[in-house]
Amino acid sequence: MPSSNPHEPTSQQDRTQSEKTERQQPSQRRSKSAEEIADAYADVADKLARWRQLDRLFAGQYRRRQFEHANGRVLDVACGTGRNFRYLSRSSEVVGIDISNEMLGHARDELDRLGLDGTVRQMDAQALDFSENSFDTVISSFSTCTFPDPIAALHEMERVCTPDGEILLLEHSRSDAAPLAWFQDWRAESHYEKNGCRLNHDPLKTVEQAGLTVDTASTAFLGLVTTIVAIPSR
Ligand SMILES: C[S@@+](CC[C@H](N)C(=O)[O-])C[C@H]1O[C@@H](n2cnc3c(N)ncnc32)[C@H](O)[C@@H]1O
Repeated sequence: MPSSNPHEPTSQQDRTQSEKTERQQPSQRRSKSAEEIADAYADVADKLARWRQLDRLFAGQYRRRQFEHANGRVLDVACGTGRNFRYLSRSSEVVGIDISNEMLGHARDELDRLGLDGTVRQMDAQALDFSENSFDTVISSFSTCTFPDPIAALHEMERVCTPDGEILLLEHSRSDAAPLAWFQDWRAESHYEKNGCRLNHDPLKTVEQAGLTVDTASTAFLGLVTTIVAIPSR
């Protein structure tokens, strides 16, 4: 079960946070371009699609818990191969966007397989081609780790979400368990070079930096998984 993660930081949490910041790897400070990220995912799209069952085994429970109550018109930002689609309510209308056409090809197949009424479009999460207040719920999973500018993408999610809507995020994060965190720090640089993903990032900190109002947040699986429910701050 996820453990609760209170938002009022204690002094211990403050210390831990600043230690984390000092430990930041280069991969947390710089970014690949959107084109480089798109190329990286084009190369692995087929492989990721084949790992569908594995993803269901490890991430399925978190996806279900975080997204099953998404309602109305739902935007899945950086939907990838469409792994969240199966956990969405049949009554919702889903729109998925991603920078990678190769990933979107699999997302289209997933919509067909599930018989869902939805659409997918190629788009940059940092410049969404939707007007303000277009979606009742904005969801995104394992994505802020790859966005060249995650704060810009979070601002866009906030902009297109209705003022009384929700932004639901599921992210991987730096572990609370020291050996795992050490391993993530050690691998961060090469993982970013290869996959364009910041292995040891802190998604809650990024959401707070973006100025979104965090309603609830929790961690699970030794802190490797973070779920966040945010609401637009405007
Ligand atoms: C780790 S995958 C996660 C995919 C999916 N959300 C999931 O949970 O399986 C990250 C996704 O982010 C997409 N992405 C990265 N940068 C993006 C951007 N600027 N705009 C839109 N999608 C982007 C990648 O193409 C990739 O599909």
